[in-house]
Formats: sequence, C-alpha cells, structure tokens
Amino acid sequence: MQRTPPDILPVDWPIEQAEPSWPTEQALDRATRVLIAGGLVAIPTETVYGLAAVALDSMAVQKIFAAKGRPQTNPLIVHVADVAMARSLAGDWPAAAETICELLWPGPITVVVPRAAIVPDVVTAGGSTVALRCPEHRLTRRLIAKLGVPLAAPSANRSLGLSPTTAGHVAESLGNRVDLILDGGPCRHGIESTVVDCTTTPPRILRLGPIHRDQLEKVLGQSVVITSFHGEGTPSQIASGAVARSPGMLVRHYAPRTPLQLSTCSAQCIARLVQSGKRVGWLTFQDERSQLTALAASPSVIILPMPLDPDVFASQLYATLHAIDQRQLDMIVVDMPPATDAWGAIRDRLTRASIGPQEKDSRSHDSSTTHTNAFEETA
Ligand code: TXA
Ligand code: MG
Repeated sequence: MQRTPPDILPVDWPIEQAEPSWPTEQALDRATRVLIAGGLVAIPTETVYGLAAVALDSMAVQKIFAAKGRPQTNPLIVHVADVAMARSLAGDWPAAAETICELLWPGPITVVVPRAAIVPDVVTAGGSTVALRCPEHRLTRRLIAKLGVPLAAPSANRSLGLSPTTAGHVAESLGNRVDLILDGGPCRHGIESTVVDCTTTPPRILRLGPIHRDQLEKVLGQSVVITSFHGEGTPSQIASGAVARSPGMLVRHYAPRTPLQLSTCSAQCIARLVQSGKRVGWLTFQDERSQLTALAASPSVIILPMPLDPDVFASQLYATLHAIDQRQLDMIVVDMPPATDAWGAIRDRLTRASIGPQEKDSRSHDSSTTHTNAFEETA
C-alpha cells in the first residue's frame, strides 16, 4: 500500500525569544512521539539535515539504513543534547574529546571516542568506537533534551547522494521513507561536520568540515593529522583505503545525478564544450564580464557565479547542486577552489562528487591507477 508523503512541520525559534512558540513546541511534541514509537524524523542542524532515530533503539536505527539504502558497515553519528549525555555513551573519555566538547560544542564537529556497552552494534557498525556530536541548532538540541535520549542521525539523503540543506531536499530524496520532517529553514554551514578521531595521538581529522585544522590545533594546543582525502591528491587516493578508519569516507559520495567535473577551465573551454553539443552548468569564480557575456547568451549554458569566501561557498554548494541537478544538463563543471586549508572540506566534497559510479566500481578493484578527474585548459 502506498504511504502518504511525510508531513513537513515548520519549526522556528527566534534567537531573542526565551521559549519556542506554541506551534514549534507542538511540532517537537509530535516528533518526540514519532521517535519514541520507533519512527524516523528528519531534523534540521547547522550543517545538513539529519535522518534521526532513537540511538538506543536498534530496530529504529535499522530503519535508517533501509531508508537511505546505506550499507550496514558504515557507522552513524550519535547526536546529544550536552556533554553529560555524550560521556554516558563513551567507554573512555580522551582529553582531546574533553577539550573539543568544552570549547567547540555545541557546533559542527564530531568526536570519535571508545564506545560504551549501551550503544547498539548497529550504530557503530560493530566497531569499538562511537562518533558523537552536539549540534548547535538549538531546536534539535531541545528535541533531544525533551526525549532524554540521544539520536542517531546520518545526513537525510539516499546513500551517496547530495546531503540536504533544506527540508525540501529531504522530501525530494527520501519521500515517504521518513515519517516526519521538521523544517528549520536552510542549514547555516551547508556541509557536514568535521569528524575527529580522538582515540589516537595525535588526534586525526577523518572528515574535513566547517571547523578547520588550524582552529582545531589552536583549541587543542597540539598538531592534528588529516587522514581524510582533502582535495590535494587524485581521486584514486580516496579509494586506496587511506581513510579506512571512517568507512563512509571511501570513494564516491555527495554526488549530484548529473556528471560533475572539476576544472581549471576558462570561458573558452566551456564554449568548446557547448560547441560540441553539451548542455553545461558552470559553477565559476570567474567574474570577467567580457568573457562571460557571450557564453551567458547561449541556451546551453547556465553560469552560476560562486562566492570567493569558502564559508559562504560551503553554505550555498549543495543547494546550488540540488537546483542545477533538476535542469537535466549533460554535465556540471565546477572551478577547482584554491589548495588551501580553508577550502579543504569543499575540495574534498567536490572531488568525491566528481567520481563517476563506474569509476567507483573499477577503483575498488584497482585503486593504484593514477587518475585525475579534473579537466584542464589543455585537455
Ligand atoms: O554534519 C553532520 O555530521 C551530519 C549531521 C546530520 O549531523 N551527519 C552526517 O552523518 O554527515 P553521515 O552518516 O552522513 O556521515 C557520518 C560520517 C561517515 O563518514 C561515517 O563513516 C563516519 O562519520 N563515522 C561514523 N561513526 C564513526 C566511527 N565510529 N568511526 C569513524 N567514523 C565514523
Ligand atoms: Mg552522509
């Protein structure tokens, strides 16, 4: 039997208001009931929307994997209301985790720590660690506090696709696979949290995100290692297992349906693609009007000027890719951002998005092949 689409309930809590308004409180009550009954609720966070179930309810967590089409080998992040809740889920509490939680929580950073026995195997994919995050989004923190139990929540999209930064993206990707969507507006950061493994010395960044390495080093007073691929190597390095400690960071990820190419291309290069009959969306830093005007007149090109500030770029990236993915183009070309720490998380996401589905399969057999997905002016 066909299920009806999920309700999308608007939730809002203006910062100057001491308490959320009644419709918002009512929406949180309903979300609480759905979660306690073992259902799935999409929640707003400051990074991307999450697909939440009560983390201590194995059956409910199983539904997350089914709804996303996610392999059970990929563990989930557990979202907590505060540090005390986080500690109750940890078997051991490393000093680095303590410092991060004290100074950067609530916020867009996830710590990986030894797990406590109460965390179900399905959440950790049977591993000995658990990933914990206290979101800055205060409505979601309020929801978790109301429940009194943590929420397991991966990004609220079908596996490997683009993460959702609006409630509309969630509905588009998951449809009636989710019971209820809380619409807290567009996500402020727009890319997924930084993930830091605190079980090693020095701590390791497993996924680059809104909190950059230099911020983390300043807070911790020590150097941190980046294990994650961050846009400075070839895509085959991603597949080579350098990131095996974080299973979800392997190969293709965060991808629109339309093939995406990273480029160091100019307007002339895009013009050549159009002449060859391609319909192209171009996310570009170029602002040379003279170069762009002729191209913009072509019905085969959509030019999307992108901001030069990495944080603003991140906040718009997925929304832009979601929108352009609707246009049935032949390809999306994205100007390669600079190779600096500030752009690391964005280069990481774009590089993963540029790996095609067949490449993903072939690379799992031959990860040593040198390969570049970026096409260049001379190509
Ligand atoms: O911003 C975010 O982190 C969002 C919001 C909803 O909080 N969540 C998110 O979850 O991006 P997900 O499942 O899409 O990505 C979580 C990443 C995956 O790469 C997963 O492999 C990794 O974190 N991860 C989870 N538990 C882990 C663990 N115990 N050890 C290492 N990596 C882990
Ligand atoms: Mg995800």
